[in-house]
Order: sequence, then structure tokens, then C-alpha cells
Amino acid sequence: MKNKLSLAIAGLGTVGAGTLQLLETHRDLLSARCGRAIEVVAVSARDRSRDRGVSLEGYKWFDDPVDMARDCGADVVVELIGGSEGPARDVCDAAIAAGRHVVTANKALVALHGSDLAARAEAATVTLAFEAAVAGGIPVIKALREGLAGNGVSSLHGILNGTCNYILTTMRETGRPFEDVLAEAQTLGYAEADPSFDIDGVDAAHKLAILTSVAFGCDVDFDGVHIEGIRHVAAEDIAYATELGYRIKLLGITERTKAGVLQRVYPAMVPLGAPIAAVEGVYNGVVAEGDFVGTTMFEGRGAGAGPTASAVVADVVDIALGRMTPTFGIPVEMLSRTPSLSLNERVGLYYIRLMVQDTTGVFADIATTLRDANISIESAIQRARSDSGFVPVVLTTHETQEAAIQEALSSLDRLESVAETPRMIRIESM
Ligand code: HSE
Repeated sequence: MKNKLSLAIAGLGTVGAGTLQLLETHRDLLSARCGRAIEVVAVSARDRSRDRGVSLEGYKWFDDPVDMARDCGADVVVELIGGSEGPARDVCDAAIAAGRHVVTANKALVALHGSDLAARAEAATVTLAFEAAVAGGIPVIKALREGLAGNGVSSLHGILNGTCNYILTTMRETGRPFEDVLAEAQTLGYAEADPSFDIDGVDAAHKLAILTSVAFGCDVDFDGVHIEGIRHVAAEDIAYATELGYRIKLLGITERTKAGVLQRVYPAMVPLGAPIAAVEGVYNGVVAEGDFVGTTMFEGRGAGAGPTASAVVADVVDIALGRMTPTFGIPVEMLSRTPSLSLNERVGLYYIRLMVQDTTGVFADIATTLRDANISIESAIQRARSDSGFVPVVLTTHETQEAAIQEALSSLDRLESVAETPRMIRIESM
């Protein structure tokens, strides 16, 4: 057997403890698969005495993870601290500078600094691996980079945030409002105390920017992602979506056109029959379109100790076997600087919900406003009169350009008969 592969782990939260547990449970299996033993030699975390359900005996302890990355002597540094700046970034920088491979679950770091880190890793002939950063336990990075290596990928879409998918699924199943379900998700531990990264779409956007780079061989461009979260999705929208034959999902979508790459994260209506519509609860799903393979779909748990540790260890096994794939599928200098397109370029269907005065001529005003913006109505639903004097009107459009919809929404908002800011949700045909 070859020399053992030694690891130093920075960060012993849920994922760090899960990784230690997996490595211990599958010690023999992993050693057989790698032809060499995998051994943790050093660890670092904020609190040494915390009970994590795993023993830290036998590992060298470092108070400072950057000292560890520099001085531990290990072959691989596993960064499980999180955050795009600060200690996480310093640990990765120090590890690469010391000639150590880096395995990270840190989507923010890779989304914001991936190209730069990959360039330095490549120059140092070490691996920068991040399977665990996208969709937790789903091996989607390897699937795109290795399994679909023979394809040109034209587009990809996915449910990349389990917290949002849990909230949207529960809202549909129970009819309860967003705030109520979010509070419950926090109590159950599915949503963070500060849930904004999840529910405002930032977490999904980090993952989408990474997937875009791997799928299309371009630089990671997080700033090029249009981001909207799920705060404005109302229980009524979810009920109307069901009535119209759709499910509402927070989607990350990326597609390549001749002009560039259009990356966006927003809540979208997807047809009930679309494979992604069936991905419910805390699950993630990714659908990729390859020119030779056709449509492929990957589904699984996007978070949690076990699934994330599974992805971390898969990267460690690659390193143990000496499998060195370029970080984003091709060498960094060959990554294209493809421009990110504005969402105004999107052409598609739209759902609009209005609360309007129940008086003569209001519908004519709405229709005129849409006609003036060159928007064709596909369907309209107006409910019975209510005592309040206001009624909801729900419209769906034919194919329309985003810029036209935005102009129409502003005009509708200015109509005296429209009582609330119009709500719009994009419909994705999939
Ligand atoms: N907070 C993420 C989610 C998991 O809810 O899917 C980690 O990226």
C-alpha cells in the first residue's frame, strides 16, 4: 500500500463532525478504494471542549486554522469554516501557498474567488475541490465535469436551496403564509436564525455561479447572477399556481446563448409534469441539457452532516487516487470570459396578480396597459365580488420580453384602480 493520505480539518460544526464520523465509519472501505489509508492528523475549530459526538483524541489541535493550514504537514486541508472572506479564505490561501490540496464545502468562497483560487492551486499543482459546495450530497460537480465531459451543455436549472424548497412545499401543502412557515422552519432547525442568505436567493446564486462555470467552461461570475428570493411569494400565488397547473420553485437557471450567459435565481412557476416540480421538501435537484446525452436529472439531499460529508470525502478519495481534474473542468487560462447577460434579455411567459377595485372598466384599463406594452394575454381569472370592493385578477401572458413586463408592471401600479403593488412570477416552460 502507498503512504497514507493525511488530512487537516478546519471547522468542526455539523459538516466537520460528520466528516470525522464518516472517515471513522468507513476507514477500511476507503483504504481499500484508495489503495492507501486516509488519516486525519490535525483539527481546528472555535471551541475545543464542545461535545460534537466524536472524539478528537489523536488529532493535533490548532487554535488558529490558518496556522494549521500553514504548519500542519498534512497533504490535504479540508476547509469547513464557511464565508467568502476571513478565516476560510485565509486557510485556503495558506494551504495552497504551502503546497497542500484543498477540499472545501464553501460555496460563497468558490463563487466569489473561485477563478483566482483555482489559478493559484493550478500553479502550485494542487487540487482545489468543492463537490460539497453545491447541492450537498448530490455529486453534481463530478457529474457535469466528468460524467458529461463528452457533451456541450446548453442549459441547466435546479432547486439549489433546501430551506426555500421546504418553505414553498409546506406553504402549498398547508396553505399557510410565508412568515409562519419560515418561523416553523427555524424552530425545526431547517432555516438559520438569520435566514436571509437562503430565502433571499443568495445561497442558491452562489451555487448557480459555480455550476455555470463548470457547465460552460467560463469564469465564475457571481455578480452576473440576477437574484430574487421567495419573501414575496404569497399563499394565494401558490394556490393560483396549482389551479393553473404549476408548482412554484426557487430555481437557479443558467443558459448559454450566442451573446453570453444568462444566470438567474428567482421563484418560478414550473409545469406540474416537469421533473423538477416533483423535487419537494428539503431536497435539491439539478437538470442539465447536454447535446449528446439529452436531459439528465440529479436529485438528493442538499444539506446536512451525512450528505455534505459524503461529498467532502468523495473529493478526498479523488486526491488519494491522484485523480487531478482541472478545477472547473478545463485549465483556468482556458476559461472563457463570457459576458453575463441582463435579465432584460429573458423572453418567456409571466403570471401577474393584481388586487383591483371592483368597478366598471377596470379590466379594460388593465388590458389597454398590457396592449400598450405589446403584451399578449394568455389567460385571465377574476374571482367573485367581495364586500371589500376589491377583487383579485390573475393573468398569464404569452411569450414576452422581460423589459416589456417590467414596463407594464410600473404602468399597472400607477392605475388608480390597482390597489396593491402588482405581483409577478415568471413561468418557466422547462
Ligand atoms: N442552507 C442551504 C440550504 C444548505 O438550505 O439548502 C447549505 O448550502
